[in-house]
Amino acid sequence: MDNRPIGIFDSGIGGTSIWGELQELLPYEDCIYLADSKNAPYGEKSKERILEFSIKNTEYLLALECKLIVVACNTATTNAIEYLRENYKIPFIGIEPAIKPAAINSKSKIIGVLATKGTLSSGLFHSTSKNHAAGITVLEQRGTGLVELIEQGNLQSDELYALLAGYISPMLEKGMDYLVLGCTHYPYLIPILKKMLPENVTIIDSGQAVARQTKLVLEKFDLLSNASELGSHQFCSNKNEKVLSNILPLSKLNLTVSFKDF
Ligand code: SIN
Repeated sequence: MDNRPIGIFDSGIGGTSIWGELQELLPYEDCIYLADSKNAPYGEKSKERILEFSIKNTEYLLALECKLIVVACNTATTNAIEYLRENYKIPFIGIEPAIKPAAINSKSKIIGVLATKGTLSSGLFHSTSKNHAAGITVLEQRGTGLVELIEQGNLQSDELYALLAGYISPMLEKGMDYLVLGCTHYPYLIPILKKMLPENVTIIDSGQAVARQTKLVLEKFDLLSNASELGSHQFCSNKNEKVLSNILPLSKLNLTVSFKDF
């Protein structure tokens, strides 16, 4: 048993989609969420910069005694998780685009993956695609500009709708029946995507699978909390702590929100 907090980091607020799933499944765990919004988006940065940010975030969470870290960012996972696992002693949970379930269930054998440039160009993404989507056409689409709009809390704007429609339409024309969201910011687009996509297209994101994997790893290493009260949650942003209230109903959470210059 271990009552130290779980650490979570992302380039900004996107990883809160994972954080929500963790709270559902592991309600007695304390969590510290780092939003590195000052450096968002990671998706267009070099591998070296993404690694540098990931190390900085990890060191910060380790100084706060986190027992496990969820890298709640596809771009950071695909570019840095191997390094983090090799160089730090605690377990790391990463977020990979859920290509496998989409490939298994697709009837048209055509799946779309919407992700950042950093994720789509990574070796880990290509090996996952190769291993899990043999015989499947994987349409890769960069979501350039989406993270910036989501970070601004601009979830209903015409600009966001037009940008997204421009990314989705070509994949629909090619016959995709599964759309994999390969960035933790994108689940916040699901309400718009549902209006945009025909009924035969299924949207897949990795949130619940990541929460389940986190629970399994905590169990395996005897790291589950034995607290009898609901966990407390800290949200730390290095840009603007108010950004969170754009997307989450804060009053529902046992949450402290603060600005930290990490
Ligand atoms: C980004 O910072 O560009 C996106 C984060 C992600 O890939 O989940």
